Formats: sequence, structure tokens, C-alpha cells
Amino acid sequence: MSAKAWGGRFAQSTDARVEAFTESISFDARLAEVDVRGSQAHARMLATVGLLTDDEADLICATLDDIRGEIERGELPFRTDLEDIHMHIESRLIECIGDVGRKLHTARSRNDQVSTDLRLYVRDAIDHLDELLADVQRAFVGRGESDADIVLPGYTHLQRAQPVMAVHYWLAYCEKIQRDRDRLSDTRKRVNVSPLGCAALAGTSLPIDREQTANALGFDTVAANSLDVSSDRDYLVETASCLALIAAHLSTWAEEWILWNTTEFGFLTLPDAFTTGSSIMPQKKNPDVLELIRGKSARVMAAVPQLLILVKGLPLAYNRDLQEDKLALFDALDTVTACLELVPAIVSNATLNRETINARIEEGFLDATTLMEYLITRGVPMRTGHETVGKLVALAESRDCRLADLALDDLRDACDAVDESVYDVLGTANVVNALQSYGSGGSRPVTEQLVAWRDRLNEA
Ligand code: ARG
Repeated sequence: MSAKAWGGRFAQSTDARVEAFTESISFDARLAEVDVRGSQAHARMLATVGLLTDDEADLICATLDDIRGEIERGELPFRTDLEDIHMHIESRLIECIGDVGRKLHTARSRNDQVSTDLRLYVRDAIDHLDELLADVQRAFVGRGESDADIVLPGYTHLQRAQPVMAVHYWLAYCEKIQRDRDRLSDTRKRVNVSPLGCAALAGTSLPIDREQTANALGFDTVAANSLDVSSDRDYLVETASCLALIAAHLSTWAEEWILWNTTEFGFLTLPDAFTTGSSIMPQKKNPDVLELIRGKSARVMAAVPQLLILVKGLPLAYNRDLQEDKLALFDALDTVTACLELVPAIVSNATLNRETINARIEEGFLDATTLMEYLITRGVPMRTGHETVGKLVALAESRDCRLADLALDDLRDACDAVDESVYDVLGTANVVNALQSYGSGGSRPVTEQLVAWRDRLNEA
């Protein structure tokens, strides 16, 4: 029978099935590093306020360093009877240094401890994600030169709509990812609050200094209500929501490139090293990585409802339900991280198939909207221009030709505001020159945005 840290009031030993059912060491061992950091800050503070001597704090901190090393090297065996990472570290500490180790948990509960650990862990994860997201942005911006003169069809409803510079697509993803980064950095503010010292739920009668531990651990502020913070997992729901949107953006990109990589589109060739083959069809080169990035978004998104359902209706303050938070969080974090680690290489090493794109870029009346705008500049009311161009499209379709192939007489028959200059706005190349408004997909605004993105990413 193992002596439980909380065993004083129990006459029976814990049922083995209960130990197996309640353990979290199988998934919270990854908190070892932050747990040691938190405990060391706590021990130093206990010495400052006179609850430990400096020698005791030194001994505790040095032994915790050793224990962290043991865990990193896989030398500390994990046991379900010790429940979680916190108990493993504390019991090892006591094994090493006896009664001094038995003082560490003074003025602390696992409830403030686990939230402190999680906040430190999530804070580090956010900082790492920010770097990975910036790498993805750099990969997209890095295509700016090689793809500078390529024009792609822009789509709505997956129907050809208006032409845009290829780089406009790349910068669209930079914008989405920037919002992901901004959201994470905003979430970080609410992550970076110290629960340490709230103890179980009510704080402590001992003379602790919560500012000191918060400062030592790099927290911006100290949580002001012990009941609130020991039950609070908002920061995990927020983090998971940020991850879900990242996954949504990656999934959109993956889907788009899966389409572009088909024989039917033929816009894009994926690098061999990032595709896989078929066990039966020798010719196949499949975009499995992109499909899995799209597919794995499901479990990342599922973390958001999972966490919300977990916290819904829990009475204040800590309830053991909260132990389950780590399963959803870690899986979502690991999944997004694994995807983000692959994306830059795929983005940088795929090739746009210029010939295939250009061969059909004049199809689909991509210049129709610009023709309508030309009529507007010549005094034609928008709705009239819309109808006129609609009729011209029908005419061109019936003749199986482009708008630019229609004779001036045909164009003037439809609208006498037209003259020779109309041919300066027809055709894809003219359209991307004509798109000048801020944020549009024309060559000039896109070049300006590309320069701005380069500056922005280099500065960071
Ligand atoms: N393993 C627990 C968790 O992850 C640590 C907190 C346990 N607290 C308690 N009062 N039993 O939530």
C-alpha cells in the first residue's frame, strides 16, 4: 500500500481501479518542467516570508533541478498510485530530502498549482506558435518574387469571377495568419495571470507574497479572486478557439491547393517529398499531407466544444472534471503544431504551372466586371451597365469568343458610350492593371502590400 499524500483520514487503501481511473500522469507528465519552475518560485517566496529558511529553499530548488533531470532522462518511473505529475515530483522530493521536502506544499494546493503549470505551459506554447505562424507568413511572402507576374482567376462560388495577382492569394493567407497571431497575443494577456497562492479555493492564513511568485514566473498580474481563478479555464477555451481558427485557415488553404493540384485545375504541382503514392495505381501522386491538414482540423475544432462542455455548469471552485482539460488542450496544440511545422516547406516548394494557368486565363469572362466599370466611368448607371455587359457576355458566349474578340460595332450596338478605348480594359492583363483600389488584387496594390509584408516580417 502506498502512503498517499492525502491519506491521513482514510482507513482503507484506494481501490486499484480508482487509481487507474483517476490518474492523469499518463497525460500530464509533460507539465514536469513548468511544475518545477512553479515550485522553485514558490519555495523562494516561502523563504522570503520566513516559512522556509534560505538553506531549505536552496535545497528544495537544487533537488527539484535534479528531479527535472531525472524526468527528462526517463529515470523517474511513473505510477498511477501517485496520480499526477505534481504528486510524482513532490513525493520524489520527499524521498530525496525528507522533512524539508514535506514543507514545499505550504500555502499551496494542487488547484492553484495545476493552473499555474498550465498557464506557464500555454504561455510557452503561444510564443512557439507565434514563431511557427510567422514562418508560414514568410513562406508565402517568399513566393513574391518567383510568382510576381502570374495572374490567377479569383473565384466566388468556385466560379471564375475576376483575375487577381497570384501574390494576392499568398498575402490573403498572410492576413488570416496575422489575425491568428493577434488573437493568440490577446489571449496571452488572460493566460498570463498568476493563480499561485490562491491555494485550494480560499487563499491562505499564512503570510505569503503572491507578487513575488508572479514576478519570478513572469506573470503580468496576480489573480484577484481565489474562487474565480481556481475554477477558471476560460484561457483554455480561448486558446483552443485560437487553435480552431488556425486549423480552419490551414484547412481552407489545403483544400484550395488540393483543388489546384488536380488534373482538372492543373495550376499547381506539389513537391514529391510532400506527397504520397497509391498501393495499386502506379501513376498516383496524392496530396495526403494536405488532406490530413484538412482532416486533422476536425479534432482541433472539437477541442472548443469539448472544453466548453467540460466547464459548463461546474459549481465553483475546483472540480476534478477539470483534469480532463489537458486532453483536449494538448491534442489540439500538438495537432496544430505538427501541421504548422510542415506548411512552410510545402508552400515554398510547390510550383505554379504558369503555362497551364495562362492557357485558360482568358476564359470565364474575368474582365466583365471591369468592362461594366468602364461603362460607369462613361456615365452609364451601374445597373444599366450590368445589364449591358450581361448581354455582351451572352453574345460572346453564343459566338464562343472572348469579350475582347467582339467587334467595336457589336460593343457600340450594346452601348453607344463605348469607343476604341474599351480594348484597354478588356483581357486579363488589362484588368489587373486597372484594379487600383486599396486592398484589391491588381498588380500595383499587390506590389505595395508585398513590400509592406516584407518590412513587417523582417522587423519582427
Ligand atoms: N491532476 C489534477 C488536475 O489535473 C491536479 C489537481 C488535483 N486537485 C485535487 N483537488 N484533487 O486537475
